[in-house]
Formats: sequence, C-alpha cells, structure tokens
Amino acid sequence: MEIGELIYQGKAKSIYKSDNDDELIALFRDDMTAFNGEKHDQFSGKGVYNATVSAFFFDYLEKHGIKTHFIRMIDEKTMLVSKLEMIPLEVIARNRAAGSITKKLPLKEGQVLNPPVIVTDYKDDAKGDPAVNDDLILALGLLTRDELNEARRTTLEINKLLYDFFDELGLVLVDFKIEFGRRGNEIILGDEISMDSMRLWDKETGESFDKDVYRFNKGDVMTAYARVVEKIINWKKEQ
Ligand code: C5P
Repeated sequence: MEIGELIYQGKAKSIYKSDNDDELIALFRDDMTAFNGEKHDQFSGKGVYNATVSAFFFDYLEKHGIKTHFIRMIDEKTMLVSKLEMIPLEVIARNRAAGSITKKLPLKEGQVLNPPVIVTDYKDDAKGDPAVNDDLILALGLLTRDELNEARRTTLEINKLLYDFFDELGLVLVDFKIEFGRRGNEIILGDEISMDSMRLWDKETGESFDKDVYRFNKGDVMTAYARVVEKIINWKKEQ
C-alpha cells in the first residue's frame, strides 16, 4: 500500500491520500494533547494503542450493524478508511456527568444521567468548539432533519453497545465523543474511538483509564491505556 500526500494533520492523527480515490490512510501518531492543544506531549506506543482500540471498536460496531469508515489495518498504527465528507460536529454521549458539563451545570461529578445525554459541539478549535443545539445544526446546514435524527439514533445505539461492552470489562463508560461523515447519502461513523475520546472509570475504584490521566496528571497515562488494550485482548481471547 502506497502512502500518498498528507491532506490533513489533526492533533493526534495524520490523514494521507491512498492509491484509491475513495479511500484514505489514517496514521495514529504518538502525540497527546489536552486543553485545545495547550498541553502537548509524545508517548511512545500511544498511536498503536489508539489505533488498536479504534480498529477493534469499528469492527465490533460493524458486527452490530453500525456503518463505519474502517476498512482494515495497514500496520499497527495505520488504518485504511473509506473517504467521508466529514461533518464538523463533535457528538458527545454522556452516561455520567464529568468534565466540562459539571463546570457549566449543577451536575455532580459521577452523577448518573439516565437516559443518557447527547450534546453537540461545532468543531472549530479557534472558536473553542461552541455547543450547538439541533436548530443551530439545521441553520448551519450541517445536517438535515432526517440526518440529525439518524445521527442521534446511531449515537444512542453505539452508546448502548459500548456501555455494555465496557461493563463486562469492569469499566464504566462515562462519556465519549464521535464524529460522522457523509458517503453518498449515508451518514457514516468516522474519526476514531479510543481512550483519547472517552472517559472510562473502574467500576469499583473510580480510577480513570483515559485521557483524564494525562489532562490532570493522575498517573502514568500509557499504563492506563495499556490496561484497556490488555482487557480488550483478554476479552477477544475468551470469545
Ligand atoms: O470536555 P468534555 O468533558 O465535554 O468531554 C466529553 C467527552 O468527549 C470526553 O470523553 C472527552 O475526552 C471527549 N472529547 C473529545 N474531543 C473533544 C472534546 C471532548 O474527544 N474535542
């Protein structure tokens, strides 16, 4: 597989052209950033961890009827994906209150949100990813009403699948962020699903196994990420 021209450099992934116009190559780098890039470090092996977990979940979701951009791994940190026209929206599902929502609203850290809450942010670093509601998503022309309903339904389905999966591993899926793109007239799950984009707490101790370990200096972030990878590998062995 020939890696083509770099077309987009995100905070933790680089996207390259492939030899097929309908496909792109996503390289998961070792960069870790937080607070809109204010904090930035590199951790050897981080790209491999996130690529491994993302590939696992894309495959898991596909097996449960969710369409994703995942095609296959090229090597352990490089993923072949189908080309989507990305929608600049961060769709966040929350099962417990944590992070930004506890600063903006009278919700206690760890408070159960049942039914789960879905919020959406307009993806624009320079503007600090402002929150947008359904009306604004329509006004901005980001999604049609049908697509909005579909994205919401799919996000709730993904949340249920991931929540139940992590529950089996002894972890609480507190929240996560996903992004969708368009392929033809379909809305497809893109980007990544990794410890960078979710909060995972140990069910018993509340210990974090996600980017909060890095954000708030809660310990060794690579040990935390490795623990999640290990749990997933063990789960796979048991199947
Ligand atoms: O920052 P906040 O607490 O709202 O984040 C909610 C969830 O979405 C967290 O799991 C966080 O890691 C993820 N997120 C993300 N990328 C962003 C904003 C949030 O992956 N730009």
